[in-house]
Amino acid sequence: MRLLFLGDLVGRTGRKAVIDALPGLRKRYKLDFVVVNGENAAGGFGITEAILDELLDAGADVVTLGNHAFDQKETLVYIERQDRLIRPINFPKGTPGKGAGLFRARNGMDVLVINAMGRVFMTELDCPFRAIDNEICACKLKQGADAIFIDFHAEATSEKQALAHFVDGRATAVVGTHTHSPTSDERVLGGGTAYMSDAGMCGDYNSVLGMDTGEPVNRFLTKIPRGRFEPAEGPATISGLAIEVDDRTGLSTRVAPLRMGGVLSKAEPAFWVE
Ligand SMILES: [Fe+2]
Ligand SMILES: [Fe+2]
Repeated sequence: MRLLFLGDLVGRTGRKAVIDALPGLRKRYKLDFVVVNGENAAGGFGITEAILDELLDAGADVVTLGNHAFDQKETLVYIERQDRLIRPINFPKGTPGKGAGLFRARNGMDVLVINAMGRVFMTELDCPFRAIDNEICACKLKQGADAIFIDFHAEATSEKQALAHFVDGRATAVVGTHTHSPTSDERVLGGGTAYMSDAGMCGDYNSVLGMDTGEPVNRFLTKIPRGRFEPAEGPATISGLAIEVDDRTGLSTRVAPLRMGGVLSKAEPAFWVE
């Protein structure tokens, strides 16, 4: 199975790049399953239902979220009817929506997608390790699901690496999001779980995390807000991780970064274009 994950879409430029590219990517790489993090899709803050529908129409199978999940207040309502939108599983009990779901891939296999948020340098939520453990014990690899994909939305690389080792051999992939810069540590761990500390964002990298540089620089310098954070509008780089899954075991065999457009160096999963 061929699985593609794309990191946080930021603003109009990131959104448009992904919506324009996804149909072609699905075809070119014969993708079976695509997960996209959409927490910054609407002007950098959250996601509207109209944008979600556009992403799903373009070829995303599932959209994950993070700390910006409910920045657009309408999400509190529509998330209950949008089966393919997943928010962090360790939010307080009673939070609208769900943190995991089982979805049918193009090749007929069932993929369990889990979104969780870290707690280091972030809001104190329920323990993400225990929340994920509960989920993958209730829906085990090759028993309840053919593949298990985890988007771990966290600040600290230590927490992301620890989680990956905690589930190594029990999940197909753990990919980090939230820091908006792609790391170069993508690999398959000893037990067969694919891992990358951060998939990077889909947005304009001539920015501060996808935002115009003026206000972020001002806030660091003066600590006084002078304006709003506005998404940078330059050409976007699409950034994510390509994962080749062994259909027999549900574990990963190969991973490679995907980067296209914008200012970052280009990267293409060679094993899908041979
Ligand atoms: Fe983000
Ligand atoms: Fe985030």
